[in-house]
Amino acid sequence: MTDRMFEERQHAALYQKYRFDPPDQLKELIIQYLDKKKGKPFQLALDLGCGTGQTSRVLAPYFQQVVGIDVSESQVAEAKAIKGFPNLTYRVGTAEELPFPDGSVDLLTASSAAHWFDKEGFIKEAQRVLKPRGCLALFGYGDDMTMYHESCGEQLNHIYEDLKQELLPYTSTRVNVANTKLKDLFEAIPFPDKERIEHIPIKQQLSVKSIVGFMETFSMYQAYLRADPSAATALLERTTSRILKDIKASSTETKVDFILDYFCVFACKPE
Ligand SMILES: C[S@@+](CC[C@H](N)C(=O)[O-])C[C@H]1O[C@@H](n2cnc3c(N)ncnc32)[C@H](O)[C@@H]1O
Repeated sequence: MTDRMFEERQHAALYQKYRFDPPDQLKELIIQYLDKKKGKPFQLALDLGCGTGQTSRVLAPYFQQVVGIDVSESQVAEAKAIKGFPNLTYRVGTAEELPFPDGSVDLLTASSAAHWFDKEGFIKEAQRVLKPRGCLALFGYGDDMTMYHESCGEQLNHIYEDLKQELLPYTSTRVNVANTKLKDLFEAIPFPDKERIEHIPIKQQLSVKSIVGFMETFSMYQAYLRADPSAATALLERTTSRILKDIKASSTETKVDFILDYFCVFACKPE
């Protein structure tokens, strides 16, 4: 059963605008893992729960063909609107039912998405479509993100903690699966050759506007917005003004250090 949390066009538009590309360090880890375990040629990668295509586009230069798959038509429509990747296509579909032959896929990725999949259905389908020595790379980040600006790092984190508290009633249990860094899913993968990297901290400088925009993409924020639009809007306004006050800035273009702690589950199908 698939959770349908990402259907709205306005949510998909926010995704295109504010979600991050996978960082270079993580992309290198994935490509090196596939190279070490299976080796070239890299013919087909499927990016499952592709959203608006951030990971699909990053994979495109390394593969003959990349297909992004997402259950949400709105997300796929936004992804398709970005042109310039002739070997990249998108399909509406689910990670539990992949329209590809047995043993045809080199790499399956899921970025901030595998926690939404049905564990058994997805694993069965991954086993079927992967080539021998084909690989899985399931990555994302938990909810421990850190914001710093000069001397007021702690205050900024309190602002984020307050936002999380207010969104708690709207947080799907699926999000908690991501916060465990996919521990259960990792344990359920039947391939003996697998590993789970729990901490890949990535630091970037982001404007206050981008950080608050990123928060706006959270499924729990969108659930809050549906339930109580004025309270949800006020929460983001309050979050923005608290950050600006603490960093003593007036413009939302002001940059803040932002650290996301990624994780990655790797697995390689036996011969
Ligand atoms: C948090 S978003 C991540 C999107 C993108 N990969 C990224 O990193 O920004 C999760 C995506 O998974 C999709 N999704 C949820 N369940 C799915 C399933 N069973 N099969 C395929 N896509 C699914 C949602 O529609 C949504 O676009």
